[in-house]
This record gives sequence, structure tokens and C-alpha cells, in this order.
Amino acid sequence: MSLRTRLMLLSGLWILLIVVFFNWFIYYYILKKTTDNEVRQLWNKAQIILRDTEIYHPANWNPGQLQEYLEPDSLIRIISPDGAVRTQVSTSEELSAHPAIYRTQYHTVVRNELGLLILFIQVPIVGKSNVQIGLLELGKGLNVIAAFMELLVAGLTMTTGSVLLFSPLVGFFYTKALIRPIRQLLETMRTIRSKGDFILLSSQFTAKKDELGELGRTFNEMIVRLQENDRRQKHFVADASHELKTPLTVIESYTSLLRRWGGRDPAIRQEALNAIHSETVRLKGLIDALLRLAEVERHAETELHPVRIAELIRSTAEQMRRAFGRNIIVRIDAEETECSGDEARLKQLLIILLDNAIKYSQEDVIVECGEEERCVVIRVIDRGMGIPSGELPLLFERFYRVDKARSRGTGGSGLGLAIAKQIVELHQGLIRLDSEEGKGTTATVKLPKSSLRAFQ
Ligand SMILES: Nc1ncnc2c1ncn2[C@@H]1O[C@H](COP(=O)(O)OP(=O)(O)OP(=O)(O)O)[C@@H](O)[C@H]1O
Ligand SMILES: [Mg+2]
Repeated sequence: MSLRTRLMLLSGLWILLIVVFFNWFIYYYILKKTTDNEVRQLWNKAQIILRDTEIYHPANWNPGQLQEYLEPDSLIRIISPDGAVRTQVSTSEELSAHPAIYRTQYHTVVRNELGLLILFIQVPIVGKSNVQIGLLELGKGLNVIAAFMELLVAGLTMTTGSVLLFSPLVGFFYTKALIRPIRQLLETMRTIRSKGDFILLSSQFTAKKDELGELGRTFNEMIVRLQENDRRQKHFVADASHELKTPLTVIESYTSLLRRWGGRDPAIRQEALNAIHSETVRLKGLIDALLRLAEVERHAETELHPVRIAELIRSTAEQMRRAFGRNIIVRIDAEETECSGDEARLKQLLIILLDNAIKYSQEDVIVECGEEERCVVIRVIDRGMGIPSGELPLLFERFYRVDKARSRGTGGSGLGLAIAKQIVELHQGLIRLDSEEGKGTTATVKLPKSSLRAFQ
């Protein structure tokens, strides 16, 4: 069963139930209010009859005594303790036919039999020494009320019938309006699936302020993200294959050269071997970086522990100093600070930034570490060639290099900062580069101090 049919049936059923309930309530409420008034009048009349002292002498009970109280369409009778009707006056056959029952308490009964609405009240007649000597019963036919109630029932039935008739019609248009955006969403999704294109929902859908509008906006956001991911993925594959192809082409051409001339000319042989070796090293580095990037992306959810950041900076700087034979000045302001993170990844982050600073500058590199509110701030500063300001926003893209020829010389693959960004995001931190061409570059990383997520 479609959602629309279900909604139509459900809303129709609910409306019908509510109408039936209210009609029932209205019927009984009006019936009670109108009969209550009649009951009160009968009780008053019973009190008047009981004020007559003759009524307390069973020997004097006779119809004449009750006659003066009789009204049209009513009955008055006295029932003796043995259940027999001792005396009775009546102007209605239906009321007279009502069986007499002797009771010892006050009693009211409203009967609705075969379209006849009748009301009876019974009042015990209590003689001297508190002994009940009989039962006074007054009956009244409520014909006017019955006719009115009949009209009311007809009216209410008509209302219920109209609701039954119109609720599917209203439901039809109402659900149509409700389902339309969902249909549109479904259509869009189907087109995306069949054509593989990224299609956004129209503003007509997303401009609405309700939940459906919210759904539309979220859908569009998701599509934009998917589109961006798809674009990046395609870009990545193209870049990666290009990057891998270049060293392989170099290797291929040198091996051909070796095959043709290498045996005879030792100088060519040496040159070819050197080139093949350096390209193989580059290739290996590239594949390593790719694997690291994939690794960081795969473990997007890592358990973070407190890491003593000062110690980590000192040991990493020492390692890089030894590896590259370059001076690295470490300035720690917050000696005891711990930041919440994954130690191995944070080390990798420091290596990437120090590696850049060393590669793209000739002078000493400075590493600073301080605290700022709820985060640890690490700065890697160099006085190197710097980066043109227009390039700064693109540096975190995979394979992006400012000057491909320049980086090729230093062996860079353009993956370092992309990995650094992934690591920082994994730690709910921030990374930025500030640079001035010819003067130097500062890489700033902010990481949450403890388990607190400082940048959320
Ligand atoms: N400190 C810096 N000074 C000058 N240029 C920089 C600096 N850091 C990064 N760059 C520029 O940004 C580009 C991207 O840096 P990234 O670390 O991502 O790649 P890479 O250093 O070329 O290669 P990899 O780090 O993968 O070996 C570099 O090619 C370089 O042009
Ligand atoms: Mg680098």
C-alpha cells in the first residue's frame, strides 16, 4: 500500500473516530441536560403529593386523591409493599403498561424504548415510626424531547455521513500536497542513480522552513559533498597516475638506453644507474606517502590519549637535526602541557612540517610551542623562499606543489600537507600556513589540550 493511500486512510479514520466520539458526546450531553430538568420537576411534584396527610393512610388511597396532580402524558401510582398497584391515574397507555416494581429507596429511570422516551421516579412513602407503607411512582412521557432527540440524531448522522464522504476527498488533496516534495526527492534520487549525475533539488523544495525543506537542504548538502568527493577522487587518481608515471617513464627510457649503449659506455651506464636509483627512491617515497595518506583517512576514528607535546617536539626535532644536518631551534613555553592525541600521528605531523621548513629554506628552523586558552599551539617557522599568497589555500590539496619543477628537485610529492591536514582534523584541531615570498613561512597548528574538543 502506498504511503499516500496509507496517509489518506489513516487521517480519514481518525477524523471519523473523532467525529463519532463528539457526536456521541453531544447526544448524551443534551439528553442528560433536558431530562435532568424533567426529573427535577417530577421530584418537586412528588414532594407536593407527599405533603398531603391523606397519603399516609393506605385505607384512603384512591385515584381521586391523585387525579388533581395528573398532567397530560403522565402517570401517578401508589405501589403497596406486596408489589401490587394500589391506585393509579394515567393519561398514557404506554406509561400504564410499564411494570410496577416495589423499591425501598428513591429511584429514577429514563427509558428509551422503540422511539418512546419515558421517565419514572419512585419515592418511598414512610409512615409513622419510620416504616415504609408504600411507594409513590410518577411517570412522564418525554415526547417533545424524544422528537428533538430524533432530529438531533438525524443531524449528527448527517454530519458523520458528510465527514465519511468528504474526508477521503480532502485527504486526496491534502496528501497530494504532502507527498509532492517526497515524490520530487524520489525522482531526483532515481535520476542520480540511473544517470550517475549529481542533481540538486530545486529551491522551491529547499526554501521551505519546515522539516521537508530541512530534508531538501540536507540532501543538497550531501550531494554537494558527494560531488566534491567525487571531483577530488577523480583528481587524485589522475594526479597519482601522473606522478607514478613520470618516474616510471624516466626508468623505462634509461633502461632502454642501458640496453642499447650501457654495455659499451661506462659513463652512460653510470648515469643511467644513478637516474634509475633516484627515480626508484622517489617512487618508493611517493608510494609510502600515498599509503600513509590512505592510512590516516582509513582510521578517521582513533582513540586519543594525553600526549606530552614538549617531549615529542624535542625528540622529533633532534631526529630531524641529525637526519638533515640542519639546526632546529626549539622554544617551549608550556613545558607540562599535554594535548589529546595519537602520538605516532602527531610525530608524523611534526616531521611533515619540519621537512618542509628544512627543504624550502637554508637557514635555521624554529619550532615554538605554547598554550592558548584550551589549546596547544605549535609553530614551525622558517626563513626560506616562502609561498605566493595566491597559492596558500591550495597547499593542502593532494599533490599540490607551488612550483612543480622546484619541488621535483627537492623530491617532494605534494602529499605532505594533505596528510598533515588529515592528521590535524583527526585531532579536531586547526592548521594554517602564513607566508611571505622570499621571507619565510610559518606553519601553525592548534590542538585541543585535553580530551576537550576545543574547536567544536
Ligand atoms: N615551508 C615552506 N616554504 C616554502 N614552500 C613550502 C613550504 N611548505 C610547503 N611549501 C610548498 O607547498 C607545497 C606542498 O607541500 P607538501 O608538503 O604538501 O608537499 P611536498 O613538500 O612538495 O612533498 P612531500 O611533503 O609529499 O614530500 C610544496 O611543494 C612547496 O612548494
Ligand atoms: Mg612536504
